[in-house]
Amino acid sequence: MVTSRHLQSACFTLQHRAAHLHSALGSKIRAFLAAAIPRVARDAPDPARVTHFEGMTRTYSCGILGATGIVGQTFILLLRDHPFLRVDFLGASPASKGKRYGEAAKWKMSSPIPERVAALPLVGCTPEEFKGAEVVFSASSDDVAGALETTFLHAGFRIFSNAKNFRRQEQTPLVVPLVNCNHIDEMVPIQRKTMDVTGSLVANANCSVTGLVVALKALQDRFGAIIHVSVVTMQAVSGGGHPGVASMDIMDNVVPFISGEEEKIEYETSKILGGIEQERFTYLPNLTVSAQCNRVPVLDGHLECVSVKFATPPSSLEAVEECLRQYKCPVQILGCPSAPKTAIHVFSAQDRPQPRLDRGLEGGFACSVGRIRKDPIFDIKFVALSHNTVLGAAGSGVLLAEYCILKGVL
Ligand SMILES: NC(=O)c1ccc[n+]([C@@H]2O[C@H](COP(=O)([O-])OP(=O)(O)OC[C@H]3O[C@@H](n4cnc5c(N)ncnc54)[C@H](OP(=O)(O)O)[C@@H]3O)[C@@H](O)[C@H]2O)c1
Repeated sequence: MVTSRHLQSACFTLQHRAAHLHSALGSKIRAFLAAAIPRVARDAPDPARVTHFEGMTRTYSCGILGATGIVGQTFILLLRDHPFLRVDFLGASPASKGKRYGEAAKWKMSSPIPERVAALPLVGCTPEEFKGAEVVFSASSDDVAGALETTFLHAGFRIFSNAKNFRRQEQTPLVVPLVNCNHIDEMVPIQRKTMDVTGSLVANANCSVTGLVVALKALQDRFGAIIHVSVVTMQAVSGGGHPGVASMDIMDNVVPFISGEEEKIEYETSKILGGIEQERFTYLPNLTVSAQCNRVPVLDGHLECVSVKFATPPSSLEAVEECLRQYKCPVQILGCPSAPKTAIHVFSAQDRPQPRLDRGLEGGFACSVGRIRKDPIFDIKFVALSHNTVLGAAGSGVLLAEYCILKGVL
C-alpha cells in the first residue's frame, strides 16, 4: 500500500536529486522543477520578516506561557527577529521548569530553535517569575490556561490568549486581527473597569474560525447581513497540539469529530462579526451557523467548504470575488509589521487553495479563498484556507500585540 509517508519520502528524494541537478540546469528548467515538485517539508512560518520598524524607539519585553508546545514554538519563530517584541520569559509545565528551553522543548518546527532562546531557562508560570514582561502570550494547554490567565490578569499583565477559556466571557474581546480589532479599543477599558484590573486579556479565536470569519467579514462589509452559514472543515493534525491524534488513527483516514469545535465555530463567528453597544457585545442575532468538523491527515492548514446566504444576495460572483480581493483590515491600515500585504488571496484555478501549497502565503498571515460559485440552496459557496498555528494562533497573538502597541492600547 502506498501511504502518504511513502509519497513524502519519494518527494524528498526528488527534491534532493533536483538540488544536485540545480547548478547544471538552465533557468527555465529550474522554474519548471520548482513548480512541479511540491514542498513537503513542514512550512516554517518564515515571511519576508520586517526587522526594523520606523518610528519605534524601544523594545517590548515578552513572555510566553506554554512556550514548549506547538503554538509556543510558533511564537518563538515568529518573534525571532521582531522589530520591537523580544522574548525574555518562557514558561511551561512544572516538569519543564529549570531546564534550558533547548533541552526541554520537543522542537517540531522545520527551522532551528533560535540560539538565544534555546539558552533561556524555563521558569514557572507565575506572575513573580514573569516580572518585567510587558506582553504575555498564553499558549498553555486549555486545562490550565484559564487559571493561569486569571492570575496574570489580576497581577496587571497584558495577556494575549490562544486558549478557549475566556472567549465566551462577557468583557473579553474575542479578536481575529484581520477582522475586529475595534473590539479591543472598545472593550479593554470596559474589561478593566468591570473586572477591576489594570492589565488586559484579549482572546484569539479558535483556529477553525479564523479563516472563515475573514472571508465573511469582507462579504458582510460589502453585501450586508449574512443570515445562514454552513461550513464543513478539514482540519490539520497540528490543531490538536503535540502529539495530537495517534498516527494509527489519522493515517489513511478522516476523523469526523473534533471535540467542542463545532460549537466554537457556531458561537465565535457571531461574537466576532457582531458589534458592541452600551458596553456589551451584540453578537449577530439573525445569523445561524452550522458547522461540521473533520480531522484530516494534513500537518498544517485548515481547509473549509463554506456556503453563505445573505439577506440580500450579491449582484454577481464577480462582485464577490472583487470584494474579497480588495478587503483591507485595521492591522494593514495601521501598518503592523506582521500584517499581510493582501489579507485574502483569491484563486481562480479550480483546484486551489490547497493546504500544502498555499498555507504558507505571506508567512501564514494571509487567508486564501477559491472555488467561488453559486450555491443552489444558499447564495454562494467557496473554499477557504488559513494556517492554523500562524494566523489561527501565534500569528494572531503577535499581530494583536503589534496593534495594541501601535494604537497605544497596552
Ligand atoms: N495547535 C493549534 O493549531 C492551536 C490553534 C489555536 C489555539 N490553540 C490553543 O493554544 C493552546 C496551546 O495549544 P498547543 O497546540 O500548543 O498545545 P501543546 O502542544 O499541547 O502545548 C501545551 C503547552 O502547555 C504547557 N503546559 C502543560 N501543562 C502546564 C501547566 N500545568 N502549567 C503551565 N504550562 C503547562 C506545555 O508545557 P510542557 O511541554 O512542559 O508540558 C506546553 O508548553 C491551547 O489552548 C490550544 O487550544 C492551538
